[in-house]
Amino acid sequence: MEKSIKEIISLTKRKGFVYPSSLIYGGFSSSYDFGPRGVLLKKNLKEEWWNEMTRNRDDVFGLDASIIMNPKTWEASGHLSKGFADKLSECKKCHKRFKDLENDQKCPECKGELTPPREFNLMMKTFIGPVEDDAAVTYLRAETCQGIFVNFKNVMNSMRADLPFGIAQIGKSFRNEITPGNFIFRMREFEQMEMQWFCKKEDADNFFEFWLDKRLKWYEGLGIDMKKLRKVEVGEEERAHYAKRQVDIEYLFPFGWGEIEGIHNRGDWDLKTHSDHSGEDFSIEGEFPWVIETSVGVERSLLAFLVDSYTRLDDGRDESSDRKETVLKIDRRLAPTKVAVFPLLKNKKELVDKAKEVFSEIKKEFDAVYDETGSIGKRYRRQDEVGTPFCITIDFDTIEDNTVTVRERDTMNQMRVEIENLGKKIKEFMNNGDFVS
Ligand code: GAP
Repeated sequence: MEKSIKEIISLTKRKGFVYPSSLIYGGFSSSYDFGPRGVLLKKNLKEEWWNEMTRNRDDVFGLDASIIMNPKTWEASGHLSKGFADKLSECKKCHKRFKDLENDQKCPECKGELTPPREFNLMMKTFIGPVEDDAAVTYLRAETCQGIFVNFKNVMNSMRADLPFGIAQIGKSFRNEITPGNFIFRMREFEQMEMQWFCKKEDADNFFEFWLDKRLKWYEGLGIDMKKLRKVEVGEEERAHYAKRQVDIEYLFPFGWGEIEGIHNRGDWDLKTHSDHSGEDFSIEGEFPWVIETSVGVERSLLAFLVDSYTRLDDGRDESSDRKETVLKIDRRLAPTKVAVFPLLKNKKELVDKAKEVFSEIKKEFDAVYDETGSIGKRYRRQDEVGTPFCITIDFDTIEDNTVTVRERDTMNQMRVEIENLGKKIKEFMNNGDFVS
């Protein structure tokens, strides 16, 4: 059976991954809040990206630039001109705006007359200071990388870096999208994980292939079904205004293929335009470095991982017949909680005390939860639904021999582990993937 986005939205709301924003006031179009499990999943996803793109490399440096920048940045980058605008027609009667309408069409809502299409810029405007005049206008950043470009020289000098090297950043971006939608796929406020790789012009094509391959392997390594991932070479007409070459990485969502990441050859566009506009010379030995960019949305990739791991018995991915529930078969590194601890019975003090003792130890090392309500089977199902890879049960044998049962989410295999080795064992299971003693 096909996974429906409705089921996934329902699970994420019920289980504290994603809530519609300001729901008590009727919600707010395309704004979402991340609940207790969502925030952990997001943190883990960002950590995996950060490890891959920065921490495990000695040629990529981290940055956290500000969201509100000098508006001259956006003049220089081209975001305030045509390159970053949608063409919209406005209904003269109901004043709603529409994208991609055919000539002579009437308003799809009220059949009123439409204005000819006009440019509508996607930058989110705001004012700095108390006076809301033109001089105070500024913008929330529409892509994190402009903070990277303006800091190119700062980072290069303070880290004594030579070409080629990269700068990586995770942070919020804002776009006044005309048609947000598809849950957290297209929003007006979202997070990006971007890496700008600065290199010599003659090396740019090779590095493009290198980073594209690396990014695809990252998804594969985190367990994405590669049949649901594809790369799309974007033609000149559709490319962003700065891109000399663009390959989109798309995932097959229940609502169709959707871009989750873009790999761009930005040429020397950014460093050159910022040099021209600011007077700061970003060239090296008379040449501007070229930039290969990898740019992924946190929420979009998170949605891809959620959809991909959402498994039901009747969707054909789970062969075990005694399983009737939903299992979030998400990579252990991404799972919001790694361990759940249960006493077999909640009315046996010695079991509860021991379980709480085990819980307080294990949560020092892993995100963990404690649950004592309902049958053990029910408690397993509760954890399966939110992707917890390991459940630990404290039973009467535990009191005798200080061992517990550890049960693994996907195989449902169980094994006895000594309490004193529990942390070490879970770490091993987390790292090497195999659930063997
Ligand atoms: N610096 C290059 C850049 O921003 P982009 O293709 O416009 O390129 C990169 O955006 C990624 O950011 C997209 O692949 C997507 O994952 C994410 N993204 C862009 N707009 C978004 C939106 N409105 N909501 C959620 N994610 C978005």
